[in-house]
Amino acid sequence: MADIYTSKKDEEVISRVLRHGLKLSGNKWKVLRIALAKSLQIDTEPDDSLDRVPTDGKKEYNLQQVTGKGKESTLKTQDWDAACRAMLGVYHKQDFFSDEAGYRKHLQRHIRRGLREIDVSWKSGSDFHAWLSHEFFSNLQSAPVEVTEHHDQLVAAFSEIGIQAEISEVSTGPRLIRYKIYLADINELDRLKRGGLEKLANLLGVQQQGVIQGKSDEPKTIYLSIPRPRDSWNYAAGKDLRQWVETFLPENYKLPVWIGTDVVDQPYFFDLADTPHLFVAGTTGSGKSVCLHAVIISLLERMAATPQKIQFALIDPKEVELFVYESLPNLFMDKVFGEDVAEVMELLRHLIEEMNERNALFRSIGVTNIDEAMSKGEELPRIVVVIEELADLVMESKEVQNDIVRLAQKARSAGIHLVLATQRPDSQVFSGLLRSNIPSRIALSVQKSTESKIILDDVGAEKLLGSGDMLVKLNSEAVPKRIHGVFVNRDDSMQAIKHFTKALRQ
Ligand SMILES: Nc1ncnc2c1ncn2[C@@H]1O[C@H](COP(=O)(O)OP(=O)(O)OP(=O)(O)O)[C@@H](O)[C@H]1O
Ligand SMILES: [Mg+2]
Repeated sequence: MADIYTSKKDEEVISRVLRHGLKLSGNKWKVLRIALAKSLQIDTEPDDSLDRVPTDGKKEYNLQQVTGKGKESTLKTQDWDAACRAMLGVYHKQDFFSDEAGYRKHLQRHIRRGLREIDVSWKSGSDFHAWLSHEFFSNLQSAPVEVTEHHDQLVAAFSEIGIQAEISEVSTGPRLIRYKIYLADINELDRLKRGGLEKLANLLGVQQQGVIQGKSDEPKTIYLSIPRPRDSWNYAAGKDLRQWVETFLPENYKLPVWIGTDVVDQPYFFDLADTPHLFVAGTTGSGKSVCLHAVIISLLERMAATPQKIQFALIDPKEVELFVYESLPNLFMDKVFGEDVAEVMELLRHLIEEMNERNALFRSIGVTNIDEAMSKGEELPRIVVVIEELADLVMESKEVQNDIVRLAQKARSAGIHLVLATQRPDSQVFSGLLRSNIPSRIALSVQKSTESKIILDDVGAEKLLGSGDMLVKLNSEAVPKRIHGVFVNRDDSMQAIKHFTKALRQ
């Protein structure tokens, strides 16, 4: 009898990593071990759904392959089975030296969960070793950054470009150091903007990402944010998000979402019901999907904490990210929609019908929106429509585009809110009518400032640092806010689903 089983889907991930990542043939055990390490990084236990392996394409492994059990140690092979038992034992607070079946069961759960995590977070086109190094080492605590070092450099740099400035405050955030700077002559700000910032960045040796300038409330005072070295960044994770929801549930928020922390590490949240729709764009790998998950997880955790009626209409043309929510009981039309455009059109038609019916109901009871209708005793769930890749849909059909525009124009008062994401922020995908009806935008990193202008009506996103670094501009605010996205993973989505369904049963 084998010790560990994998499914057909797991095997696809293993061969994708071997072929496109490690560029090796054979050596599947290497991928299994990476998957184990990936899973052990997550601080919640993998669940029992990973015990059941569908029989089609099922593959089996024994401990000798996975942990080298019983292998004689040579330069090439090593038996680390005991180390693995000890490691899993500490993780699960169990003794896996005496519980053989338990050991194999948990090992399988971790390996399969790790493979799933690799599958969603590593793209075949990108460098696997760079991905590994980011996933495994970027979170390690390194020595605190020497702030004073920058401080002196900055003073010297200002004097070199001939601007009289004083540093009045320094705050070290999770990814940036923010300096509050007093300018003796505020007219120098123009000079700073016209090339001065680039010079400062060069002098500080941070050319690529640059120094970003922001407004302050005090006269003659500005903020300059300078990126910290990437290996010293701190990331907010799923457990932080859960804690934010637990410790601060704003009563009057209808659809509160927590998407990250600001530059000085304060959780950042807003009410999606007020935005009232949201456009999220950025280059591939910038963190859009993670951001969408944070929105959905926030709402699920919110509903788990205080009962609320919210439905999701989920569309994921690439069929990768949003299918994790397939089992949710509160899906509009009971499923997640994928690449089938005819089905998506059907969904959009139903949403428009729902919107029209709600508006007719409002007229008949003499109200103008969902809040007033609810205060008159109507029970209407808010509906959050999430589209993972807008470009795939609007490029496919003019009709789909028209339907989305209709929803953007009229759905807000009916309690239907759109969250649209795209890798292609151009005027074709984010057309004029969508732009004017979606005043709330999130820009992740982009390649060109022209893309930043399309998303935010402003430059700046081309300077973002990637990995969920974003500029958020809600309801046409004058100045976008710099936010570092919370880093949620597949497991956080599954936990949120579990919390929510458990709360429903109670
Ligand atoms: N908030 C974050 N904190 C740290 N790392 C992040 C964050 N968001 C994303 N990343 C990193 O970037 C990778 C890509 O993120 P994500 O899949 O969300 O990108 P994307 O913009 O959806 O890309 P694509 O357009 O190709 O779908 C993640 O696997 C993770 O390694
Ligand atoms: Mg994505």
